[in-house]
This record gives sequence, structure tokens and C-alpha cells, in this order.
Amino acid sequence: MKEVLKYLKANQDRFLEELYEYLRFASVSAQPQHKPDLEQCAGWLVRHCKKIGMTARLVATNGHPIVVARTPRSEHSRRPHFIVYGHYDVQPVEPLDLWISPPFEPRKKGRQIFARGSTDNKGQNFAHLKAVEAYLKTNTPLPCDLTFVLEGEEEVGSAHLDSFLKKHRRELACRAVVVSDTGIPDLDHPALTCALRGIIAFEITLFGPARDLHSGGFGGAVENPAMALARLLATVRDDHGKILIPGFYDGAQALTRLERRQSARYPLSDAHLKKMLGVTRLFGEPGYTATERRSVRPTFEINGLTSGYQGEGTKTIVPAWARAKITCRLVPGQKPDQIRKVVLRHLKKNCPDTVRMEIEAGHGADAYLVQPDSPTAQAALRALEMAFHRKPILLREGGSIPIVNQFKKCLGADSLLLGLGLPDDNAHSPNEKFDLDCFEKGQVMSAHLWQELGAL
Ligand code: BES
Ligand code: ZN
Repeated sequence: MKEVLKYLKANQDRFLEELYEYLRFASVSAQPQHKPDLEQCAGWLVRHCKKIGMTARLVATNGHPIVVARTPRSEHSRRPHFIVYGHYDVQPVEPLDLWISPPFEPRKKGRQIFARGSTDNKGQNFAHLKAVEAYLKTNTPLPCDLTFVLEGEEEVGSAHLDSFLKKHRRELACRAVVVSDTGIPDLDHPALTCALRGIIAFEITLFGPARDLHSGGFGGAVENPAMALARLLATVRDDHGKILIPGFYDGAQALTRLERRQSARYPLSDAHLKKMLGVTRLFGEPGYTATERRSVRPTFEINGLTSGYQGEGTKTIVPAWARAKITCRLVPGQKPDQIRKVVLRHLKKNCPDTVRMEIEAGHGADAYLVQPDSPTAQAALRALEMAFHRKPILLREGGSIPIVNQFKKCLGADSLLLGLGLPDDNAHSPNEKFDLDCFEKGQVMSAHLWQELGAL
């Protein structure tokens, strides 16, 4: 172990240069024009994994390829097998003008690396690769067999990972899956995440007149689809943040008193949160704290809203259509299909007959909840403590990683969610960043983790 840790310490400058190479790929999975960037990024990963001593290959899917990399296997010893899951795809970068430096030209400012994908998720999965490199390059026996599965479609719902898991079930059979794609409140509070929210995604379009119309010539005599959409969306929620869709909260598990006490210990204060997010005041469903609202309560969010003229100056029209991109976050107990049904029923019922509504369904996933008392979770907590020199906390987080449910269903494996992101890392926002302390501590945590898991 000493050699491994020494190797990590000695090679940080090179690791950073390599991380920059990884970050330079514009691997935006949502936008078709970036398909070649995803392919090149996956190819680079395969070459990099081979360079550090793993065997690696690309597995083609009907979408973006999956990188599968394995540590060298020994025929003589039987070691426990773990998967390390991560993703090399990133979110779109728009609005570009808000970035202080171009999103795919990594920039270092103090201890922070600015680039799209730096925290979500390239920096986090790269920390694990570097820990494995340290074992392999120092000829330190790895106490576990590892298979890295790095996909290119996490940010768009992981549509092709399920069939990959089914097809490679034998090769992928494992004791647990290690996922660093979540966060910690700060460097003094390393955390094991025990719950994630589920999700449903869809798009509503309201069609009005056959084409954009002169708003002087026809405005007032026809429905304005943008106005109709605004009114329709307004029926979804009350003034205080409670969702009014009948059946929306059905099944949502209430928090136990213990869980509420645990979430009350989350170290980020409301005042800090308010300042960090730049809002005039925090807001949300009555009866819950901000921490609970953003982790264990269901939501209905408008992610995008488009209609009419968006350019400079004025253009006096009644737009032909209006569209909203929507996701709802779900909590344990809520079924994605059921929630989709009640949401669509509500929208159809409240849509005026002056417009025609089209709804396109997107991805969906169950919430995830795992008990932290398994031997693997306890091993992970020890590895966190060794790397961060602090007692780790247990977290329930609000984001979604749909594939963790498939790991459970298909492989019977729990996921160890060992996030390295910080709340102000700007994931999915302009100026995404990754903290070098998180990168380095993540490598050390990963190095300890294989020891702790191998000893079970
Ligand atoms: N890293 C996030 C998931 C995450 C974010 C977990 C914050 C915990 C806290 C991941 O890359 C992500 O963004 N997932 C998507 C999934 C969706 C597109 C199906 C999400 O949560 O929006
Ligand atoms: Zn993400």
C-alpha cells in the first residue's frame, strides 16, 4: 500500500495533464453532432486503460459505445470481483457565453479545474483509473478483480446499458458496483450515498395556428399556444410548491424520524445554500427542510420552455406552437409508469380545446435505496475515512443514476455510491469544475477501497 500511495503522490502532475486530455473531448451525448466526439473519447479511454496495464475494449451499442476495461486476472487466486461504473458523456454546454473559459479547454484556477464533464463524471471515474494504475505500475497485488464499465449515455437515460448487462451477465457477475458520480457536502464530510431519486422525462408541445401569425392581424382572435402552455403548467403546482396533480404523491414513502434526524445533520446551512445558488429566497413544499426537498421529495420541473421569437428586438407574432421539456424526480415507493400516467391524465384534462397537445415520452427510472449496513458498505466507509481523515456521513441525494437499479436486478449487486463532487461544482451548469483535493483524495480512497473490499 505504501508504494501505491507513494506512486499516487509522485504522479499528480502527469495525472492532471491526462485528465485534461480526457476533458478535451466534447462528448455531449444529447446532441447528434457530437457522435464523433463520443467515439473518439471512448477510443482514447480504451488506449489509456491499456497503457496503464488493463485489457480494454469497446462494446458497440445502438447508441454510443461502452468502454469495458479489466484488471489482469490471475488463474491461481480467486479474488472478489467488483465493477467500477462511470460515464464519459457530458451534458450540453449551453449557454456558452456564461463560461469564463471554453468548456472543452480545461483551465486550472487555484485548486479547481474548469471544464464540462470535470466533476460529472470524467474527473470522478478517472480518480479510480489512477488508483488502479498505481497498483499495476508498482506491481502491488490488487486484492480484487475489477471491471470498469464506462458508458456514453448516462446523461440521456442509459438506454442501451440494460441489454449490455444482460448480454454480458456472466462476465459482469460481481459482489458490488462502485460508482463515483454523486457528491459530498464539503471536504470535511466524505459521504456514502444510500439513496437516489428516480425520474420520468417527457416533452409537451401545444400547437395553435398552422403558422406564426401577425399578432396585430390575428392576435385576440386565436389562442396563443405560449399562453395556453403557461396556464396549463400553472395548474401543476400551488403557490407554495406543492404538486396538485391527483395521485402524484401516492406511494411516496414518508421519512422515518431517524431519517429526518439524519438529514437535519446535513452540514450545508440554508443561508449558505441560498447564497451559493443566487436565489432571493429558498422555496419549496411546505413541511420539509431544503435538504429534504432536494433529496427525498418528488418534484415536477420545467427543464426547458420554448415558443415564438427568441432573437434580438421584437417580432410581433402569435407563435404556432409552444413546448416544455419536463422531468419529475421520484422517491422510493413511486412507480415511474404510474406517475407518468397521472401526470399525463392531468395535463390532458386541463389542456384547453383551442390547441392540440402532443406528448413525447422520454426515459424513466425508479428511485434507489440501499441499507448501509452490508459488509461492502462498511468497507467503503472505512476507505472514505482513511482518505479524508474524517468520519463519513450517510447521504440521500436528489440526482438519478438510472442504471443502479439494473445492476441490482440483473446482477444482484448493490451500488456503493462514493461521490467526489462538491455542491458548487456546477454540474449541468456553466463553469463546471472539479476540485483537485477531491481528485487526489478520490484516488487514495479508491486505493484503500480495494484493500478493504479484498479483505472481506
Ligand atoms: N451525476 C449525476 C447524478 C447525480 C447528481 C447524483 C447529483 C446525485 C446528485 C448524473 O450524471 C446525472 O446527471 N444523472 C441524470 C440522469 C438522468 C438524465 C436520467 C440526472 O440526475 O439528471
Ligand atoms: Zn449528470
